Amino acid sequence: MRDAYIVQSVRTPGCKQKRGQFNQTRPEELISFILKSAVERTKNLKPEHLDDVMLGCAFPEAEQGLNLGRIAPKMAGFPDKVSGATVNRFCASGLEAIAMASVRVQMGWSDITIGAGVESMTFVPMGGNHPRPHPEYSGTNPEMYVSMGVTAENVASRYNVSREDQDKFAANSQAKAAAARDKGLFTEIVPTPAYKYVKQANGTYKKEQFIVEHDDGIRLSTPEGLGKLRTVFSAAGSVTAGNSSQTTDGAAATIIASKEKCDELGLEPIARLVSYSTIGCKSDEMGVGPRYAIPKVLGQAGLSIEDIDIYEINEAFASQALYCIRELGLEKYMDRINIHGGAIALGHPLGCTGAKLTATCLANLKEVNGKYGIVSMCIGGGMGAAAIYERL
Ligand SMILES: CC(C)(COP(=O)(O)OP(=O)(O)OC[C@H]1O[C@@H](n2cnc3c(N)ncnc32)[C@H](O)[C@@H]1OP(=O)(O)O)[C@@H](O)C(=O)NCCC(=O)NCCS
Repeated sequence: MRDAYIVQSVRTPGCKQKRGQFNQTRPEELISFILKSAVERTKNLKPEHLDDVMLGCAFPEAEQGLNLGRIAPKMAGFPDKVSGATVNRFCASGLEAIAMASVRVQMGWSDITIGAGVESMTFVPMGGNHPRPHPEYSGTNPEMYVSMGVTAENVASRYNVSREDQDKFAANSQAKAAAARDKGLFTEIVPTPAYKYVKQANGTYKKEQFIVEHDDGIRLSTPEGLGKLRTVFSAAGSVTAGNSSQTTDGAAATIIASKEKCDELGLEPIARLVSYSTIGCKSDEMGVGPRYAIPKVLGQAGLSIEDIDIYEINEAFASQALYCIRELGLEKYMDRINIHGGAIALGHPLGCTGAKLTATCLANLKEVNGKYGIVSMCIGGGMGAAAIYERL
């Protein structure tokens, strides 16, 4: 197999679904902007050098539909020869896209690829616009279609993750994110154009552009304040809006090139994907996924938990993130996990998340001068995914 190197990894800010700053900015605009920016920020790289784009999206329909993996590179101004596909593994779609893009380079099928992710939960809600579960199968297997919040409640009650611990974890995520934003540590963010439609005197609407620089869902919170929020998914449960990931709009992109192309064009390798794992688990407690995906990927790579300098474990819900951290024996490494906060504060734009966390992981590895980073998440339907990156 050939060596495949990451030469760029960037993301847009994440903005709250419907009430956030991207609520009038279509997903095609977010993803085409970040694709174009990723190329522009990579010294010596031009769009004509690219072969292919793999684009993760969890609900690829309506504004995100058709084959956005092909439309977005065209909107970015890339030449016709740059092909594209849309990839769906729900919350791991962006990570899956990066893994597929890397494999294409390693196999010699492509020389330079982009693995990316996008989700506008404003334009296409979780579950899609017209969910159509199979009538008989959904009757006998309702867990395949259950709300993600209910699976988070199941993890909390089955594995004794208390409300207090969830709220403490959530407050900590918010505090870390606010501090990182204030110190300018989200170096992977590209300030991103957003749009709003402003009514004119003559009754028509004008599309106006403005720039978004920061994640807009960060909200400093105390465990006591969070403790007052009502539960959302079960009256007697523990999962609230404050200890769940936010529903978010965003896009991210990672460029991967063969060693030969790096040498030929003078591209600077920043990292490589060492290994990637996926694994299934029970659908009605899908949040346990990282507990199984992380040991699997570590085994594949011949590494152990202490070798990892930065963990980006998606905070779909505090209950499942905490459960996985405990079961993995990672509590002693809390200073390596989601060091600038996670999805509770920064949002979880489903199909973008794997690509977004990759950009964050590589930036954080650089910040702490680390070598290995893990990106992992749970996945609707009952799965986990994990990737190990090595900083070069
Ligand atoms: C939990 C969820 C339903 C909440 O959505 P929402 O109701 O739109 O959330 P909001 O941001 O409006 O918050 C609801 C309330 O909690 C409050 N709140 C939220 N976070 C808070 C915080 N950190 N501190 C204090 N109050 C907070 C809000 O102010 C709001 O109060 P209000 O009703 O008085 O205005 C939604 O975030 C969700 O579905 N998350 C999970 C997404 C998911 O499943 N992803 C896939 C995972 S695999």
